[in-house]
Amino acid sequence: MIFLFRMLGISIGLLLALGLFLLGTVYLISSYHLRQTYTPHTVNLSLPEDSVALERGRHVATIRGCTDCHGSDFGGRIFIEDPMLGRFAGPNLTRGGRGAVLTVTDWEWAVRHGVRHDGRPLRFMPALEYHQLSDEDLAALIAFVQHLPPVDRPSVPIRIGPLGRMLHLMGNLPLLLTARRLDHNAPHLEAPPSGPTAAYGAYLATSCSGCHGPGFSGGPIPGTPPEWPPAANLTPDPETGLGNWTEADFFRALREGRRPDGSTLNAQYMPVQLTAQMTDDEIRALWAFLQTLPATPRGNH
Ligand code: HEC
Ligand code: HEC
Repeated sequence: MIFLFRMLGISIGLLLALGLFLLGTVYLISSYHLRQTYTPHTVNLSLPEDSVALERGRHVATIRGCTDCHGSDFGGRIFIEDPMLGRFAGPNLTRGGRGAVLTVTDWEWAVRHGVRHDGRPLRFMPALEYHQLSDEDLAALIAFVQHLPPVDRPSVPIRIGPLGRMLHLMGNLPLLLTARRLDHNAPHLEAPPSGPTAAYGAYLATSCSGCHGPGFSGGPIPGTPPEWPPAANLTPDPETGLGNWTEADFFRALREGRRPDGSTLNAQYMPVQLTAQMTDDEIRALWAFLQTLPATPRGNH
């Protein structure tokens, strides 16, 4: 009997030691990733001052979803608070916060590269979606935020929990360190001219790919809690995608959050408040682009 208890004690001890060892390894490797530095290729941006450009900046900030994480006043906001995953908060970007010290190059590194001014990777700043943002859109965006009234709210410190680190190492939290997934030396591509074209739609659709996937076929959204519904398939697949939708159906979904059968989209997960503010040309461009995609069954990628 005593022998059995001793054996049990030893195996529980071994399991604990193994668990601690694994956790230690996860912390070591993820901390190493957090300490890596990058030197992105930069472009000299000159910021506009005119009201048309500032209004353009406001529109870009809305349709690109910056306010989801940085707050509608850009004064910062916690967007994930979970003991296991971690606490993630967009910092205050107004002149009352980080905006007071960020240079134009700091802005560019952050938005297009996910890199902090000291070269370290930013956490949960989705630069992958903004890497191809045009010089014009980015300059308008920076000028707009710089002109906002300063907000007096301290930025909340970020903490990456054990689950967050583990998912990151398993490749299941692609937004955690987007700097790792970008080529920082690639020259910046010219953005397509704005208009209701498939090319411009592709430019806008980078903001949808974070949830709908790089191939837009939907499926579970990486790193989201289990209660999140899978993202819809936006390819022209007739079974699981938008194969039987018309452009008018697409407009109704993005503006009013309704499907062709009248059912409502879950706006807590699908950002209808954001897509509702897109212009007619922007929605047409997205539709034209989605029509060029190969019909793919849901969740392929
Ligand atoms: C998914 C949430 C999310 C979205 C969307 C997002 N950000 Fe961020 N952003 C963050 C987080 C979190 C940080 C801080 C990361 C850190 O400190 O490691 C950050 C950092 C930044 C920084 C760097 C601040 C500094 O102190 O160096 C800038 C600039 C920035 N974001 C601008 C933007 C702009 C502009 C947009 C829209 C085009 C945007 N962000 C969209 C989450 C987000
Ligand atoms: C934050 C994640 C997220 C982003 C960003 C996002 N979506 Fe969605 N989308 C979803 C989810 C989740 C659903 C499914 C909602 C439901 O089942 O009620 C959805 C559903 C849809 C639908 C309905 C399709 C159907 O068959 O029911 C359309 C259309 C759509 N999204 C288009 C877009 C477009 C276009 C963009 C980019 C401008 C975009 N989404 C950005 C998460 C997102």
